[in-house]
Amino acid sequence: MNNLPLLFLGIFFTLAFSWTGLILTSQIQFGKLVQTTEVLDEEGNPIEGDPLYPEQIVGLAQQGKQVYLDLGCIYCHSQQVRRPGFGADTERGWGERQSVPRDYILQDRVVLGTMRTGPDLMTIGDRNPSDDWHHQHFYNPQITSPGSTMPPYAFLYRVQEVGVEPHPRAVQIPEAFHPGEGLEVIPTRRADALVAYMKSLRMGYSLPEAPIIEQ
Ligand code: HEC
Repeated sequence: MNNLPLLFLGIFFTLAFSWTGLILTSQIQFGKLVQTTEVLDEEGNPIEGDPLYPEQIVGLAQQGKQVYLDLGCIYCHSQQVRRPGFGADTERGWGERQSVPRDYILQDRVVLGTMRTGPDLMTIGDRNPSDDWHHQHFYNPQITSPGSTMPPYAFLYRVQEVGVEPHPRAVQIPEAFHPGEGLEVIPTRRADALVAYMKSLRMGYSLPEAPIIEQ
């Protein structure tokens, strides 16, 4: 090996180049983003006392995100709204504005997704905050969305015999999909967590760089 310094330089520049491109430029572009208020004061600072966005998801919803990751929902659903002119996302009602990097800053793992076999879920909590709808849909998508290609997640529910009184948390299942007379369908904790996560996916707030424009 006569050219060891050259080899070393080559390796160094390759690594330095990719580090600059992938880490340094992202850090410069996005590293300083913090939560902010919907409108800014004259100096461009967040207004004291106004709510800060994006909101942190906590508790059960945070656990639901883990269920979302475990079950591979990302293989069919994205969580990113493209701006008008870059696809029909807003026309489809998937959001009132595009999503921007600041919307994701509080997330430890960002599940942007690339596949859209199903609708984008960035604003599903704004679009459909109904617990009952989501439970019926996860138990069997055909109940709420006949012809859906989404798989059923019935294993997130416990089928049990009805006791003296029906369980207060029993999911209303139409007869055609019901597991049988004398039985009831109860959400497990994972089902509850997943629904809490769905309801936490909201983007009904403006950001200075992406305001919601009233039509
Ligand atoms: C094989 C692809 C596929 C997988 C995997 C999948 N979905 Fe879906 N999903 C769809 C399709 C297609 C639709 C549209 C029809 C319907 O409403 O069922 C949909 C609809 C939805 C909707 C309603 C969206 C709306 O705008 O009304 C929600 C919520 C949802 N899926 C959540 C999930 C979650 C959570 C998971 C993981 C547990 C999941 N999906 C896994 C294909 C999929």
